[in-house]
Parts: sequence; structure tokens; C-alpha cells
Amino acid sequence: MTSDFSYARIIGTGSYLPERRVSNQALAEQLAARGIDTSDEWIVERTGIHYRHFVDEGTSSSDLALQASRRAIEAAGLSPQDIDLIIVATSTPDMVFPSTACILQHKLGITNGCPAFDVQAVCSGFVYALTMANAMIGTGTAKRALVVGAEVFSHLLNFDDRTTCVLFGDGAGAVVLEASEEPGILASALHADGSHVGILCVPGNISGGQVQGLPLLTMDGQAVFKLAVGVLEKAARAVLDKAGLKDSDIDWLVPHQANIRIMQSTARKLKLPMEKVIVTVQDHGNTSAASIPLALDHGVRSGQIQTGQTVLLEGVGGGFTWGAVLLRM
Ligand code: UT7
Repeated sequence: MTSDFSYARIIGTGSYLPERRVSNQALAEQLAARGIDTSDEWIVERTGIHYRHFVDEGTSSSDLALQASRRAIEAAGLSPQDIDLIIVATSTPDMVFPSTACILQHKLGITNGCPAFDVQAVCSGFVYALTMANAMIGTGTAKRALVVGAEVFSHLLNFDDRTTCVLFGDGAGAVVLEASEEPGILASALHADGSHVGILCVPGNISGGQVQGLPLLTMDGQAVFKLAVGVLEKAARAVLDKAGLKDSDIDWLVPHQANIRIMQSTARKLKLPMEKVIVTVQDHGNTSAASIPLALDHGVRSGQIQTGQTVLLEGVGGGFTWGAVLLRM
């Protein structure tokens, strides 16, 4: 397949949060019953999180991805059969295999045989997936890509560890990317440093039908925090340089929604007022690969992000991975 257009542009966004919304106070009460001490004050002050959404039993990443994808496809004015590439960023796939993207393809009723695969880059997964979709559109491999971040992190949480279980939630976000005569995606920068595998991981596996190791999230929060604030500024500068733009050209920063203090630090370094930062962490906590498309969709549907504006997406997380995508809406 060849394409007449070498750029890719977002033509629709969508997101979905499971119905069960849990406040800090409600979570603190549940944890107190297990002898774990935390409070609404601590969570708000250290993270900016007020609520997270958790799935009910039996709901998987592909279910959340399905809702977000339908909304993105509808916003793009397309039908599912128009999609010719599906990439799902997730660290909480429905199964070991096949990919959540294949399961999503089936749930969407797409029967055109388009390629579908998952990307595993934890909280940077969405910027990785978007960069891959952009490259595949640029080479004519696809014309209309569905790029999704979907997670059920509640399945990985250790509710006896207050340093992590209050931080994460479930959700999904999606975009439809279409081949275009004009950018679209202006530049991207992706990075990884595997020497930091241990600071944020789920150190478990399945072998011979048995779980090996600990299949629960563990994190050295301070180490992640320090690395994140350093690399996010560098990634932003890299994509601005590649696109020949400066800090002041950014209309909106849509960062990974892990901690309001990391977002404030990044904004300060880029001399962006917080009015130019889309912040949704208060409503859903850290949803890993879903957090950037969730925030992007919020920015678009609230009327803040407008067509023609320049938007910087930034992700950071387990791996250690990080990356940025600069785009024109
Ligand atoms: O998505 C991937 C990216 N992930 C991130 O970006 C996460 C990055 N890290 C962070 O956001 C922060 O490091 C945390 C929010 C995880 C922690 O905030 P912090 O300001 O670095 O707190 P801390 O780890 O220094 O802990 C301060 C105190 C400790 O008590 P002591 O030792 O000072 O007595 C902790 O035991 O807070 C205590 N603490 C808690 N207290 C009440 C830790 N968790 C809790 C809790 N409730 N849930």
C-alpha cells in the first residue's frame, strides 16, 4: 500500500473511565480496615489526586479500550471498518497473548484484516504507540490508525503498600490518526534506560502454570520522581529543536498524569503557565498508558485545545522509558 500523504494528523479523540469512582477518603477507609494508614490530605498534597476509577470484576483493558475507541472513531466521523491499523499501549493486557489490540479489533467488529498489535512501554506507552503509528502512516503502511492507551492498573496494585496503591487507577483513551498533506505530528523523541528496571516494575511472570515472583506493582517513588523531572525537560527541548519551534510556541502541554508536582516542575522549566497545562490527575490518578489520551480528550472536548494549536505530549515511566510528541491539532 502507498500513500499520497506523508504526514499524520489526529482527527478524533475519545476516552472512557469505569463507573466506579473512589475518593481518597473512601480508599483511606478501606485501607484503614487492613491496618494501612493514609489520608485524603497526604494524597492531595503529595500527588494532586482526589479520585481514581476502578473496574468491577470481569472488566478488562479491551473493554475500556472499546468504549474510548468508539468515541474517538465517532469524533473522527468514521466507522470502525475505516481503521487500517490498531496499536494499543498497555501494561495490563487481557491475556498473555494474543494482543489486546487483536481483541479490540474483534470487539469493534473490524473485519478488514488490518494489523493490530500492543506496545509495552508502561506510562510512556502512548507516546511510543503514537510515534509508531505516525511512522507507519509516513511510509504508506496505513492511512487511518487507531492508537489507544488502556489500563486496569487496579489488577496490579498491592493494597498493603500505601506508597503505591493510592496513586493508580483504571481507564482508556484513544485517538484516530489520519494520513494528511500537512502535519499533524511535527516531531517525536523516544528514550529508554533499562538500567533502572527495578525502580518501577511488576516483578512477576508465569511459568508452568504458576505465578513466579511478585505480580504486584512496586515502585521507588522518589527515584522515579527525580528521573522524571530531569528527562521530561530534555525530551521537550528535543522535539522543539527537531520542529524548529521554541517554548513559547507551545499552546498546550499534555503530560503524563502521575503527579501534579512533576507537571508543575516541567511547566516551570518550559516557562509555561499552568493555564497551558491540561491536568486531569485529580479525577483519575495515574492510569499509566491511558493518562495522556485521557487528558488530551478532556482538553479537546472541553474546548480548550483547538484545531491548529501546537500541543506537546510527554510520557515517562517504567523501563525506565520516556518520550515526547509535538503535534499540531
Ligand atoms: O507513572 C510513572 C511515573 N510515576 C511517578 O511519576 C511517581 C513519581 N513519584 C511520586 O509521585 C512521589 O515520589 C510519591 C507520590 C510516590 C511519593 O511522594 P513523596 O513526596 O516522594 O513522598 P515520600 O516517598 O518521600 O514519603 C514521605 C512520607 C514517608 O514517611 P516518613 O518516612 O517521612 O515518615 C512515607 O512513609 O510519606 C509517607 N507515605 C505516606 N503517608 C500517608 C508514603 N505513602 C503514604 C500514604 N499516606 N499513602
